[in-house]
Amino acid sequence: MEGIAFALDIGSSKIAAVVGEIADGELQIIGFGSKEVSGIRRGMITDVAQVTSAISQVLEQAEETSGYKLTNTLVNVSGDHISSLNNTGVVAISDRDKGVTMDDIHRAMDAARAVPIPHNRDLLHLLPRTFRIDDQEDVKSPIGMHGFRLEVDAHIVISALPAMQNIKGCTEAVELQVDEFIMSSLASAEGVVSEAEKDMGVLVADIGAGTTDVVLYTNGAPFMTKTLPIGGQLISNDIAIGLRVPFEVGEDIKLRHGDARPEHMPEGATFTVSPFGGEKITVGHRELSEVVEARVEEIFNLISKEVKESGFTGLIPAGIVLTGGSARLKGISEVSQKVLGIPARIAEPRNLNGLVEKINDPAFATSIGMLRWAMTEHYVYAQPQRGGFGFLKNTMDVFRRMLPG
Ligand SMILES: Nc1ncnc2c1ncn2[C@@H]1O[C@H](COP(=O)(O)OP(=O)(O)OP(=O)(O)O)[C@@H](O)[C@H]1O
Ligand SMILES: [Mg+2]
Repeated sequence: MEGIAFALDIGSSKIAAVVGEIADGELQIIGFGSKEVSGIRRGMITDVAQVTSAISQVLEQAEETSGYKLTNTLVNVSGDHISSLNNTGVVAISDRDKGVTMDDIHRAMDAARAVPIPHNRDLLHLLPRTFRIDDQEDVKSPIGMHGFRLEVDAHIVISALPAMQNIKGCTEAVELQVDEFIMSSLASAEGVVSEAEKDMGVLVADIGAGTTDVVLYTNGAPFMTKTLPIGGQLISNDIAIGLRVPFEVGEDIKLRHGDARPEHMPEGATFTVSPFGGEKITVGHRELSEVVEARVEEIFNLISKEVKESGFTGLIPAGIVLTGGSARLKGISEVSQKVLGIPARIAEPRNLNGLVEKINDPAFATSIGMLRWAMTEHYVYAQPQRGGFGFLKNTMDVFRRMLPG
């Protein structure tokens, strides 16, 4: 598939925009925009005017750098309103001579999505995990296969409807049409892990400013997706409260001295900070590190709890892949390893071409991942129009409407 794709990452600390050109299955980054923003708390829009203005600015940056007029976008959804579950759909294969058709798959997916959805929530993703035909397990691509009964195990992600409506309101205010909403963790995973890791079993945690977006892959497909309402801002906040300094000073101290390994800090080593206009404060590296470590441990304890509660009991041989801006915190992989007992690696978006120096940072995993998501064929529930049938498609189709500016 060829074309231009645009993705907007609405994060708790920044809005990022990337434009990608896709040719011969390769992604080239040709446009970029980013703007720090308040008005988003824990992944949710709390100030529509601020967010709209920031989107308008990053859109302009992206259009200027890419030279394209951008009319359509992919956008992420995050927030602790997001929940996920797995369900099975079963149908009879309609034509025994032809074998499984696309129509059978649609009917099976439709059966799988028949779960009670609470008022004010809607399906965000309906993704096939694996198919079964009669007693044959682990069928990846059932089209044309013969049998009597087709079963699909599907992963379902449910989101609060107002969260998506608010995003749509902000983008439409700047004349950007949302083509697809993508859960942040699924997007980030596309940005940083390989198909081989998904097949082995891998956890991905995008630890941002306000949220930690988690997805667990087993046998190549998502098994559990979740947003935890906790991220790097809480670490900065703990430091600020502990030292009685403003949040910005806590953030600055974290970026300059933050390390989650108190045992690595020499006893008695200190540094000084001078909060605006205030007296100099002397801070012990080890004490600071203990504060940071406690919060980071909490994040991984919560991730561990989510995995347990998902009912998953297997192994995660490919370990955990940490991304998002907070993955740059020193010592984070050691804490992860200690709490979860699986290998951890820090990842930034992989295999990049184009404006690499701008986006070679774990904070851009979500935006780059959305472009990769657009490149792969996947089952799209008819969002954001809603209420329609699902269909297998490549979202790239919709980007052909974009014109060089
Ligand atoms: N070197 C670093 N050490 C520690 N923390 C860092 C470092 N660099 C960035 N961060 C933290 O990363 C966070 C921003 O990450 P990111 O841009 O991924 O968040 P976001 O996408 O805006 O928010 P979210 O995804 O949580 O809604 C901030 O809390 C920032 O302090
Ligand atoms: Mg983010």
